[in-house]
Amino acid sequence: MAAMAQATLRTERIELVPLADEHLAYEVELDADPEVMRYLGPPRCGDEVRRAHELRLAAARQVPGLGFWVGFVDGGFVGWWILEPPQRPDQGPVAGQAELGYRLLRRYWRRGLASEGARELIRHGFTELGLRRVFAETMAVNVASRATMAAVGMRYVRTFHQSWPDPLPGAEQGEVEYEITRERWLAGSGATR
Ligand SMILES: CC(C)(COP(=O)(O)OP(=O)(O)OC[C@H]1O[C@@H](n2cnc3c(N)ncnc32)[C@H](O)[C@@H]1OP(=O)(O)O)[C@@H](O)C(=O)NCCC(=O)NCCS
Repeated sequence: MAAMAQATLRTERIELVPLADEHLAYEVELDADPEVMRYLGPPRCGDEVRRAHELRLAAARQVPGLGFWVGFVDGGFVGWWILEPPQRPDQGPVAGQAELGYRLLRRYWRRGLASEGARELIRHGFTELGLRRVFAETMAVNVASRATMAAVGMRYVRTFHQSWPDPLPGAEQGEVEYEITRERWLAGSGATR
């Protein structure tokens, strides 16, 4: 049922390409911006990004078809999207589930790009990868991320608290989880887009 290799995907504006070593410089640019990293941790130096990049590629190998996609608009890098297998026991079983994520360069925010890419990953996950549920997590105070989840038809599930060694401002309000199930996606407009 699951596709064997991560697919290249397209939306109206975005080409979504599986993350590869040649994209490292883009990730370095992204993670160096304190505004991009505001709800994720301190901005990262090149070596830290290289380690994160290796982890991302490893995540892509865990479940065939899932992974990171790098997005290009008119040939220019805009950010990345992810469908990742659950990493913690409280996220439920690995089979049939993936966690959605996204991170865009600041100059591309508020143009509908994060939601456009996310809709395509959800479509791909439900129609080509056999997923039954896509979920997403973010800090409760990350308004932009929550609005993007809601914009693509995901629903609030729960607020939960994790213990962080170095909590970011707003961590006391916890993390939120949103979800969309395959049934709900099929029943909604998502299936016809
Ligand atoms: C979260 C992020 C990817 C959103 O990207 P984006 O391309 O600006 O999002 P979109 O333009 O697709 O907007 C999607 C929806 O969210 C809303 N939105 C986006 N940013 C918002 C903000 N700062 N405040 C309120 N609403 C916001 C949009 O209005 C839109 O809603 P609508 O469809 O009802 O009009 C971007 O802000 C980002 O990269 N942030 C830093 C990384 C990050 O925090 N990632 C998530 C970590 S879990």
